[in-house]
Amino acid sequence: MNSDIFMPSQLTWATGALAGGPLIRKTTRLADLPGIFADGEAWKCGNPQKSVYDVDVLGSPVGEGALFVGVTHLRAGNVGDEFFMTRGHFHQRREQGEVYFGLRGCGLLLLQTEAGDARLEQVTAGSVHIIPPFTAHRLINTGNETLSSLAVWPSIAGHDYAALAEGFTLRIFASGEGYEVRHG
Ligand SMILES: [Fe+2]
Repeated sequence: MNSDIFMPSQLTWATGALAGGPLIRKTTRLADLPGIFADGEAWKCGNPQKSVYDVDVLGSPVGEGALFVGVTHLRAGNVGDEFFMTRGHFHQRREQGEVYFGLRGCGLLLLQTEAGDARLEQVTAGSVHIIPPFTAHRLINTGNETLSSLAVWPSIAGHDYAALAEGFTLRIFASGEGYEVRHG
């Protein structure tokens, strides 16, 4: 075996588990998401320590042209009738895009332009989502198991949450066995 061969990090596709490298995990709990869900009373009644999603990012060099790789694990759950979702963001550097890959579970990717035009893409194991520049993005878990999605994005992109103070223009609620999309 050639000792010059570098062993890279490993992704278990079926679970989204990353291993074999420096890993930074950020957990977002219910308490970290005030004003995100439509039913504020239901949000207050929830367990504030409940983990809504974890993001695992491989430690890697930062700079112009460098890429980050990470996996989001979004738990199944609801606040009132609204499904668990990520906070969602524009990139600070608006012209920077991103790619998401569905790994497990089922859900939706909500995409919204700066003009407020929104659309949804179905996220399933194997789905590929090209997030264009100037487009905010949020994951929503409409299923009964954790939704895991791999993401690759420019390290210079940054996150801008403040630009979405008014929220997204679409919300997804549980309805029977499926979901319902509501505007506003
Ligand atoms: Fe992003």
